[in-house]
Amino acid sequence: VGCLSTAGVQVGTIQWRVTEDYLETGDGIAVDSRWTFAGQVSDHFDEHVARSVPLYQDGHELVARLSDFFVRPDSVVYDVGCSTGTLTAKLATRHLRTGARFVAVDIEPSMASKTRQRCADLPNVEVVEGDATQLTFERSDLVVLYYTLQFVRPDQRQLFVSAVYEALNEGGALVLFEKVLAPSAPLQDLMQQLYVEFKLAGGYTAQEIVAKSRSLKAVLQPLTTARNVRLLERAGFGSIMTIQKYVSFEGILAIR
Ligand SMILES: C[S@@+](CC[C@H](N)C(=O)[O-])C[C@H]1O[C@@H](n2cnc3c(N)ncnc32)[C@H](O)[C@@H]1O
Repeated sequence: VGCLSTAGVQVGTIQWRVTEDYLETGDGIAVDSRWTFAGQVSDHFDEHVARSVPLYQDGHELVARLSDFFVRPDSVVYDVGCSTGTLTAKLATRHLRTGARFVAVDIEPSMASKTRQRCADLPNVEVVEGDATQLTFERSDLVVLYYTLQFVRPDQRQLFVSAVYEALNEGGALVLFEKVLAPSAPLQDLMQQLYVEFKLAGGYTAQEIVAKSRSLKAVLQPLTTARNVRLLERAGFGSIMTIQKYVSFEGILAIR
């Protein structure tokens, strides 16, 4: 195949083969056609998420600072979709001397196990391995969904967000971070291309970027900001505000 080149970007040669059943998505992670958080992914997750999600660590820091406004000595705090427990540990360490309890939830056994290891020295952490949509929440002052709701089936999201709302005490908060769709097709196209640039600048190869994107089909299903806000409003949240945004990556604070 001849090689076409524009502005230094090779566009006319197929330089790799992406098979349907095996995708290398970078950071030593290979998945069988569909993205999963199961198995060995947890060994490489921290590096992968920090390089793939803009402002990942800043978001954790923001949630930690926000938590000071909601965590009381008798509080229960949920980190739903905790993965390897980075945020859980940060929150639990920050509030170690209070009587607050931190419940980390993840559906993947390997992730729950990593969280247990990370939080082994934190007596205020409990790790629950299971599907958060089936969880009976205790009364809580803070629930964090940090890039987790986007992996819950869209037709289950309203019920789930409503259950979180019902679990929160008056004045309690949900912190929701999500990848979001742009409000129009031209904007979505632009946002998508900006994200490709972000990943290239982060050192991912074109092959890895395409592989990750293909693996996420029907796994990560983002909504627009407007639809996420509607989910929150329908659940009953009164005060809703965007607290962080980088192109398609958004954090929202919703207070009951
Ligand atoms: C992008 S990761 C979240 C990152 C993490 N919150 C952090 O701060 O690093 C999404 C996580 O949600 C978990 N997850 C997806 N669906 C879930 C469900 N229904 N119940 C519990 N955990 C779920 C996945 O196993 C995965 O670990």
